[in-house]
Amino acid sequence: MNTKINKVGVIGAGQMGIGISQVCATSGFDVNLVDINDEIVDHAKNKIEESLQKLTKRGKITEDEKTFALGKIKFGTDLSVFKSCQLVIEAVTENEDVKNNIYEKICPFLNDSAILATNSSSISITRLAAQTDRPERFIGVHFMNPAPLMELIELINGIATDEEVYKTIFDFVTSLGKTPVSSEDYPAFIVNRILLPMINEAVYTLYEGVGSVAAIDISMKLGAHHPMGPLELADFIGLDTCLSIMQVLHDGLADTKYRPCPLLVKYVEAGWLGKKTGRGFYDYSGEKPKPTR
Ligand code: NAI
Repeated sequence: MNTKINKVGVIGAGQMGIGISQVCATSGFDVNLVDINDEIVDHAKNKIEESLQKLTKRGKITEDEKTFALGKIKFGTDLSVFKSCQLVIEAVTENEDVKNNIYEKICPFLNDSAILATNSSSISITRLAAQTDRPERFIGVHFMNPAPLMELIELINGIATDEEVYKTIFDFVTSLGKTPVSSEDYPAFIVNRILLPMINEAVYTLYEGVGSVAAIDISMKLGAHHPMGPLELADFIGLDTCLSIMQVLHDGLADTKYRPCPLLVKYVEAGWLGKKTGRGFYDYSGEKPKPTR
């Protein structure tokens, strides 16, 4: 069953769903972006407009290309729009129950030939696929953050994924101007298997009082030439997402080296999820982010 992708559905209009929709629209695909309420969807629309405006100002795209991309995206809360999509990318909260619940709701709307993809950062593709009506047409398509700027996409087959689906998605992400890399279906795949333990270690370094937030981030920027400090990066990813990934690594690999730092757990319990909630390891309420410890 060869699938020609013209229209892409995206469920979850958080930071990743927004970026993925923008990338697809800029590359000429029609997009339906869906979330649970109008407020979230309106916010997503503003964010995409802002982002395209920035790219226009920097001369990366023309005014016409901006208008073209914006015209390609339809925003809403109705799942039945996925009927006409050949590919639906799920980018909801990194929580297995939330994702399974979404699949149950959207699968009845999908064409038999439609491909369902998850942008999950860490959860088993095989296990997620098994909860759907189409394990052979289910695949992991892991965009990096921010999706419009990052070149890489990890592709992860579940045990049942059809080779034809992999090939279709490989061509699709290539047409977005991205570089696909194939990862086996192990907890957190390649990038986050390496990146998240480093971030978790930075939180331990803070927790144990080895250094302050500023000292840790400056050290890794100037001492290891990382473009962002690990705590700044954790805030950018979202501390809830960081914690979920560490939990998946810890549960899936059963090694204590992946134990989530208790301070990371506390921040998430407090609702301090990073940039998206205005507070994490930095406070974002002022003009400049201010370290909180
Ligand atoms: P986010 O917290 O910014 O957005 C999640 C969105 O899902 C929210 O808008 C929420 O309203 C929506 N949602 C939750 N339940 C829903 C439902 N039942 N129906 C419709 N929408 C629902 O999270 P973010 O960062 O965009 O992450 C989304 C996915 O992308 C996760 O699986 C995450 O692991 C993955 N990811 C995240 C990256 C990051 O740096 N934050 C990077 C790459 C992948």
